Amino acid sequence: MDQQLEQLRAEALAAISAAADETAIEQARIKFLGQSGALTTLSKGMKDVSKDDKPRIGKLLNDVRNAVTAALDERKAGLLADVDAAAFAGVDVSLPGTAPRLGSLHPITQLQDRAIQIFRRMGFALADGPDIETEWHCFDALNTPADHPARNEQDTFYMAPADGCPGGRLLRTHTSTIQVRTMESSAPPIRIIAPGAAYRRDEVDATHLAQFNQMEGLYVAEGVSVADLKGTLEFFFRELFGNDAQFRFRPHFFPFTEPSFEVDIKAAALKGSHANAPDRWLEIAGCGMVDPAVFEHINTKRADRAYDPEKYTGFAFGFGLDRLAMIMSGTPDIRYFTQNDQRFLAQF
Ligand code: DAH
Repeated sequence: MDQQLEQLRAEALAAISAAADETAIEQARIKFLGQSGALTTLSKGMKDVSKDDKPRIGKLLNDVRNAVTAALDERKAGLLADVDAAAFAGVDVSLPGTAPRLGSLHPITQLQDRAIQIFRRMGFALADGPDIETEWHCFDALNTPADHPARNEQDTFYMAPADGCPGGRLLRTHTSTIQVRTMESSAPPIRIIAPGAAYRRDEVDATHLAQFNQMEGLYVAEGVSVADLKGTLEFFFRELFGNDAQFRFRPHFFPFTEPSFEVDIKAAALKGSHANAPDRWLEIAGCGMVDPAVFEHINTKRADRAYDPEKYTGFAFGFGLDRLAMIMSGTPDIRYFTQNDQRFLAQF
C-alpha cells in the first residue's frame, strides 16, 4: 500500500506539472482525486490494512491527498499568471499615459458669465423668459407698431397660433421680451439682466446668424435718470474693456425707449483686426429710458397702475454677446462661434 501511494503521488505530480491548460488540470483532478479517482479507490483498501499499520498508512494517504491538492492549486495559479503576463507582454507600463483633453467653456458662455458677474455687483438680478413668444410680448407691449419692419414676415420666424393663445407666436427677435415678462409679474422697483437667445430670419454671413445671443437689462424705480443709465453702462464696459476705453452715447431710435441711444466704443481699446483703424467707433449696445407708453401697456395687461409713469422711470439696454465677443477677441467671422472647430475654440 505504501508503495502504491508513493507511486500515485509521483504520477499525479508529474501529470499536474505537465498540464498545459485548465482543462488538463481538471482532468488530472478527476483522475486522481475524483469520486472514482485513483486515490479514492486506493483509500477503499484501508479496511484491509492491519490495525498496526492503519495510523501510518492513514497519515500517508492524507499527505498524498494534500500534496496533490496543493500541486493542483499551484499549477492553476501559475497558468493564470501566464495568461496575465501574455496579455501585458509588450506593454511598457512606465510609458506616460494619454493625457485626457480638458474641455473649457464656450467663449460666448465665458463672456456671458463675466457680464453677469459685473451686473450682479451693481445689484442686478437674473431674469428669464421663453424663446417662443407671443407677438404681444415681442412687439405690441414694447410699443412696436404693426407696420414696423421688425414685424415683417421676412425678418421674423412666425409659428402657428397655439390653443388658448390668441395672436401669432414667434421665436423672439430680441431679449427685450423679458423686460415685459418681468414687469408683468413684478411691481417696481426692479433691476434685472436677462441673457438669452434671439432669432431673426437673417441671411447667415460673417456678421449674422439666424440664432444669436443677447443680454437685456432693465432698471425701474423712482427717480431713475439718463445719468444712471450712462453710469451703469460705462462702468460695465470699462470693466470689460479696461479703464482707458472711450465710449460715446449716440442718439438713436428704439420704439420702446425715449430718448434712445446707441453706445459706441473707440476701436483703440480693441485688439487684433481693429488695431489698424484706432479712431473708428464701433456700435456695441442699444439703450434708453423706458417709454411711458411701454409702462401703460404693462399696466393695462396687469389691470393695475403699478407702473405709473408719473411716479416711476427706468432705463433699459440690450447688446449682442456674439458681436461683443467678436469685437473683444478680434474674431472676423461670427460663424466660428457655432462651427465647433476646436482649433478656434481652444484659443479662448
Ligand atoms: N432689442 C434691441 C435689439 O435687439 C436692443 C435694445 C435696444 C434693447 C434698446 C433695449 C434698449 O433694452 O433699450 O436690437
